[in-house]
Amino acid sequence: MASSDSANVSEAVPGMPASPCAMVIFGAAGDLTKRKLMPAIYNLAKSRLLPEQFAIVGVSIEPFSTDDFRKKMTDDIREFSIEGIDMSRWDWFAQRLYYLSGDFQDPVLYKKLGETLAQVEKEQGTQGNCLFYLATSPVFFPIVVEQLGAAKLTRQEGPKWKRVVIEKPFGHDLASAVALNHALGHVLEEKQIYRIDHYLGKETVQNLLAFRFANGIFEPVWNRRYVDHVQVTVAEELGVELRGGYYETAGALRDMVPNHIFQLITLSAMEPPISFEADAVHDEQTKILRAIQPLSPERVLDQAVRGQYGEGAMDGKHVPAYRSEPHVAPDSQTPTYVAMALHIDNWRWAGVPFYLRTGKRMTERITQVVIRFRRPPLVLFRNTSVEQIPPNELVINIQPNEGISLSFEAKIPGPVVRLGAVNMDFQYSDYFGTTPSTGYETLLYDCMLGDPTLFQRADMVEAGWAVVQPILDVWKALPPRDFPNYSAGTWGPQQADELLHREGREWRDPTRAGGPHHATGESAGRSGERA
Ligand code: BG6
Repeated sequence: MASSDSANVSEAVPGMPASPCAMVIFGAAGDLTKRKLMPAIYNLAKSRLLPEQFAIVGVSIEPFSTDDFRKKMTDDIREFSIEGIDMSRWDWFAQRLYYLSGDFQDPVLYKKLGETLAQVEKEQGTQGNCLFYLATSPVFFPIVVEQLGAAKLTRQEGPKWKRVVIEKPFGHDLASAVALNHALGHVLEEKQIYRIDHYLGKETVQNLLAFRFANGIFEPVWNRRYVDHVQVTVAEELGVELRGGYYETAGALRDMVPNHIFQLITLSAMEPPISFEADAVHDEQTKILRAIQPLSPERVLDQAVRGQYGEGAMDGKHVPAYRSEPHVAPDSQTPTYVAMALHIDNWRWAGVPFYLRTGKRMTERITQVVIRFRRPPLVLFRNTSVEQIPPNELVINIQPNEGISLSFEAKIPGPVVRLGAVNMDFQYSDYFGTTPSTGYETLLYDCMLGDPTLFQRADMVEAGWAVVQPILDVWKALPPRDFPNYSAGTWGPQQADELLHREGREWRDPTRAGGPHHATGESAGRSGERA
């Protein structure tokens, strides 16, 4: 994946420290900064991927001094770093932390920021390169960007680059996403905008590209001739925790589908890009989103399922219903679960349904993509006891047990013809060990290198919202009448099972080690005479 930002390209060498830069974090006193950003930047420092000429300027409304900020970050890193802290490395890092207090809407803050950046450039040699990270509520995205523009802080001169990172939600529907892109585009070039989807920081999600395009044997069968259907499951064990305030305005569809799940679907379904340049990859991803059959209101009713968890038991403990969670209305109609069938209208996938589901408070935390192949003809086994041959299945486990397994049928040893499902399993940890990571390291490093491949382009975001907009519209017009409709600790509402049963299929039990649902028992269970 190579850089496509023209500024400073020559200095961006993957695997080497990034080019000198300052990183400005808006929302530096918040949760994202202490839980993810600081531990990730510290990990980059430990891996020697940060430049020596580096600085962080934290910005927030809190009236800290730079010393207070350094102390707070030191306390926070002790709590949130994934591994122990190497204090000498941390001291190097802490000396590069600066702080500025102010109101994001106040032009004075940006004047002071300009002065601080000039000071930082002098003290730390950051060479005028700057990464602005908006770890703020999304309402501030257009405001901060507008103010940065007005203060001329986003102007790129000569080799000096200025980039802005924002994190989902990118709007709450199609119209607001278009408006946000417009507001950003008013100040920034598209190449300066890095829209983070933290799913793309997961190694296994990135591996979808390597798996498909670095191997010759899978692509030939990766299409409608051989694939019966695809399932994507993103199941969470956690409930809404303390995020009820946000979640009430979002719900499972907005929170997970146009972003994380569409990343999984586009990477699984797209055509081979002509290169790993960001635009080439994004073009192919966008084509998939645009090829998804638009959902008419009737099809929304038929092909999209929503759910909300009621009380239940998890790990033997009682857990409350969504409606009893903090900051959630007692009659809330917000979905915490969504499932749907999508069809991609192109030559590769015509007629192959993509089923997706995601929910909170499900049986287990598991994210996987399942490619279910077509069954072979039974001809060869006509006069044996084998009545049905289960289909082969390729399971790509994104988390938590990262790996890939392929199930296939084998003859069970013995004088009669019996088949049993077996697996070829690849576990990431067996081959590559595990590197503790927050998931933000690669993404932040790529921003510094100027490689937007793992980020979302404006048109991708809009194409994603365009797919889910009909569902948002129908669900808004027809409030659910059966919420809560699944118990915490289960795999979701019954309607989601019916969605597949109607088409003669069923969800794969994600906890099963490998092999299709009814494989071993049915085909291997009975004895039969050899013909
Ligand atoms: C976030 C959603 O984007 O992704 C959360 O807002 C969700 O609701 C989270 O829990 C899931 O991420 P992960 O990495 O735990 O699968």
